[in-house]
Amino acid sequence: MKFNNILSETSNNITTITINRPRKLNALNKETIQELHIAFKHAEENTNTKVIIITGSGEKAFVAGADISEFVDFSVSEAENLALEGQTLLFDFIAHLSTPVIAAINGFALGGGLELAMAAHFRVACDQAKMGLPEVSLGVIPGYGGTQRLPELVGKGRAMEMIMTAGMIDASTALNYGLVNHITTQEELLPLAQKIASKIIRNSSVAISSAIIAINAGYKDGQNGYEVEVSQFGKCFETADFHEGTTAFLEKRKANFKGE
Ligand code: COA
Repeated sequence: MKFNNILSETSNNITTITINRPRKLNALNKETIQELHIAFKHAEENTNTKVIIITGSGEKAFVAGADISEFVDFSVSEAENLALEGQTLLFDFIAHLSTPVIAAINGFALGGGLELAMAAHFRVACDQAKMGLPEVSLGVIPGYGGTQRLPELVGKGRAMEMIMTAGMIDASTALNYGLVNHITTQEELLPLAQKIASKIIRNSSVAISSAIIAINAGYKDGQNGYEVEVSQFGKCFETADFHEGTTAFLEKRKANFKGE
């Protein structure tokens, strides 16, 4: 499929989606959000894809935020719609995919860029990366889930400080905060994400999707994560992967999961 603002390619069961507007520091305009939705949906539906990596093109930016030029003269209802549509089409959509999503943060991840990385299931970053939610410096607040996901990931006090100061943190601070799981060099960033992906791929993809549902449930209002865990745990017992995984263990051989 041909996109104007992103690249998507699949090899070794990993689909890598790259936001490709380097001259605009990969800022998320409306078209890019729509293209990302389509690319993520295709990857989720592609039985060859076991892990998705999202990254930015070039060495400067992952994503420098929502495209400011598109919303400067929006009304209140247009702004609400922008945030709601973005959350539905992309940010919540990614967070609830059953295929694991790793964000490989290759540079600035600001505003909507950090929100995109936070919607992924976990993050790795290069040592040059800078992360922040600078919206209040523009007279607005994060609208793509940042006020919710940042406190979940780094704690309320740190999120309050990052959002109120509109400042950027460097990669080692992000590692220390638990915002990213690993940091490495720019050259090693994608290889590291691929190495983690290859460990994930060895496991049962149906069990992984149950784990994502259970983990996400704990962060959702009105859901009891423990109850969801019980029902997802039970569901695993009727899968071919569970039969294969336990049989392979008892037969002292490597499991050959079909993802069923
Ligand atoms: N929306 C639209 N365009 C953006 C953008 C954004 N969020 N971030 C960067 N760009 C564009 C710049 O306008 C510039 O375009 P131009 O060359 O046509 O003028 C180009 O990307 C390069 O950015 P520039 O600011 O010249 O690079 P820099 O190295 O001086 O600064 C940043 C890098 C990331 C510090 C700076 O671009 C920045 O602060 N961006 C906005 C971050 C932000 O507030 N994001 C939250 C949005 S809600």
